[in-house]
Amino acid sequence: MKIMSGNSNMPLARAIAGYLEQPLTDASVRRFADEEIFVEIHENVRGEDVFVVQPTAFPANDNLMELLICIDALRRASAKRITAVVPYFGYARQDRKPGPRTPISAKLVANLITEAGADRVLSVDLHAGQIQGFFDIPTDNLFAAPVMAADIQARYGDQSLMVVSPDVGGVVRARALAKRLDNAPLAIVDKRRDKPGQSEVMNIIGDVKGRACILIDDIIDSGGTLCNAAQALMNEGAASVTAYITHGVLSGAAVSRVTNSALKELVITDSIQATDAAKDSDKIRILTIAPLIGEAIRRIADESSVSSLFD
Ligand code: R5P
Repeated sequence: MKIMSGNSNMPLARAIAGYLEQPLTDASVRRFADEEIFVEIHENVRGEDVFVVQPTAFPANDNLMELLICIDALRRASAKRITAVVPYFGYARQDRKPGPRTPISAKLVANLITEAGADRVLSVDLHAGQIQGFFDIPTDNLFAAPVMAADIQARYGDQSLMVVSPDVGGVVRARALAKRLDNAPLAIVDKRRDKPGQSEVMNIIGDVKGRACILIDDIIDSGGTLCNAAQALMNEGAASVTAYITHGVLSGAAVSRVTNSALKELVITDSIQATDAAKDSDKIRILTIAPLIGEAIRRIADESSVSSLFD
């Protein structure tokens, strides 16, 4: 087995390789003067089972192109099997047509990864589980929930917990986390816009009064969904609101929005390499999922069960 990395999240790739007690494959991913990407693998990979770690986060298009070119280089170097390890799968939110004459870009990206030569895909908390079906190659979708649940038990286990989904679409994810927290009760933020262009009305389904609320979501991008939900929960009498989000996209002013929000703490994973602003924020803490991904890689290589990681 070999672990190779693009430039998107080198610290995560190193941590995964460290978990598997092996060095990263010696390769370089460079740019020509016009920003074309050039990949060179400096060691033999013929006949090897290679895992390429490359989340397609900001800059999404560059990182995606790097992933495709890494896969192409490995295929032409006769790797036996290539697994695209994409902890954060960019474009996942474009998984259906929101209106006429719009693309389904998540499917296009799945096609590109497959056509480049990937034999398998490994991702974490895909925005929608059915994105697995966009690939006609085996795709494992890992869940950060066990890592989050352990942290929640350690930090907030003595409090009166309530797991909260920030929108109706996230209920399945929230329910799965609640189950891991000794069947903690569940609440849902129901976001309504009375008229287009008018401000949103947050209805909270469930009694959150006096509860330590744990908001769970797959992505924090601008932070709007989360910070508004946190405020609505505090308005309903929650004792505190902490958010556990797998992918810290944190675009634009998101970090300062979180810093100035009603949130007690935002916990993200290292699926995306954190910016300095995120690392420096007193309100943001980062959990590593390197052992989770490393263990899944070990099991894929050994052809043993990945799903039993979540029993
Ligand atoms: C949407 O369905 C996702 O699960 C997130 O809630 C969303 O992407 C968060 O975006 P933002 O932080 O920009 O509100």
